[in-house]
Amino acid sequence: MSIRAWQAQQLGTPAEVLTLREAPSPRPGAGQVRVAVRASAVNFADTLMCRGEYQVRPEPPFVPGLEVCGDVLEVGEGLTHVAVGDRVLGGTAVPHGGFATECLMEASKTFAAPAGLDDAASAALMIGYQTGWFGLHRRAGLREGETLLVHAASGGVGSAAVQLGKAAGARVIGVVGGQDKVAVAQRMGCDVVVDRRSEDIIARVKEVTDGRGADVVYEPVGGPAYTASTKCIAFEGRIVVVGFASGTIPEPRLNHAMVKNYSILGLHWGLYEQHDPQAVRDCHDELVRLADAGRIEPLVAERFGFEQVPEALTRIAGGSSTGRIVVESG
Ligand SMILES: NC(=O)c1ccc[n+]([C@@H]2O[C@H](COP(=O)([O-])OP(=O)(O)OC[C@H]3O[C@@H](n4cnc5c(N)ncnc54)[C@H](OP(=O)(O)O)[C@@H]3O)[C@@H](O)[C@H]2O)c1
Repeated sequence: MSIRAWQAQQLGTPAEVLTLREAPSPRPGAGQVRVAVRASAVNFADTLMCRGEYQVRPEPPFVPGLEVCGDVLEVGEGLTHVAVGDRVLGGTAVPHGGFATECLMEASKTFAAPAGLDDAASAALMIGYQTGWFGLHRRAGLREGETLLVHAASGGVGSAAVQLGKAAGARVIGVVGGQDKVAVAQRMGCDVVVDRRSEDIIARVKEVTDGRGADVVYEPVGGPAYTASTKCIAFEGRIVVVGFASGTIPEPRLNHAMVKNYSILGLHWGLYEQHDPQAVRDCHDELVRLADAGRIEPLVAERFGFEQVPEALTRIAGGSSTGRIVVESG
């Protein structure tokens, strides 16, 4: 059987290097499942992977696409928690990623898809929300009543952190770039939204916290967003370093962290699968509970057809998208 797959033939921008090819149906190894893809959520990391700038660096040719919703076609040896025909969501096994009619998934990152979410929203339930949950709860220990500052609050991981912060009882300040994004961040539940293009982030955060600053900062942008965070972080505040969408990796001043008494916490969600797989499963169960209760719902802002994968990846790399971009197979 052959499938259709968007392969990166070499490293470079997605529009330059992705080509649609016929390929053999992938064979699942031990601990993997083969899945017919219903929907594939686009992550900023897909563009980094195509350029060879992500933590995971597969050799070309490879198929990107880190998270999907689909139907199980075949189950690797020794697996009992998934069966052929199950509708599942979760993480793929690149080089056989999700921008294909069939992909491989790691069984350790394969979960039942909630009936209440459609395929596109289900595809977007893992990376953004698990990253948010581990960042806010496990790393930063966010407490009810605290103030949470989320950078890029209308974006993929940012919008998930906003919803999870509200679900945890925090007061959420969202920072976004542009008026159209202000409306999205408000819809996601932010109590206060700061437009970084027209407002001073530090002054606004201090103003709305009576000078105290934010207890927890969720920071997927880097560059000026990180610097601003250090200037409006509260006493005993925690800055969770999530990513560098701006392209600039900050160099923290440790003397500043010391004199202001704040913590800088790194977060690489993907490592929890190796170090604490049970916590990843527990987190999924909690996310499904929150989704069933209507407390969280991935914001699928743009849907692309399967033929438009390079356009979908170009769109997220530009930094102007909101919520999640999803490629649908149907
Ligand atoms: N640590 C982890 O485990 C983990 C897990 C998942 C994702 N991530 C990382 O989180 C970051 C965000 O991913 P995402 O999927 O949420 O992407 P996204 O939706 O595109 O969010 C990125 C946002 O960053 C802001 N931004 C500011 N300056 C930018 C610039 N120069 N270029 C592009 N964007 C800029 C933009 O929002 P505004 O204009 O509103 O500021 C943009 O929408 C990525 O770096 C990704 O690799 C990390």
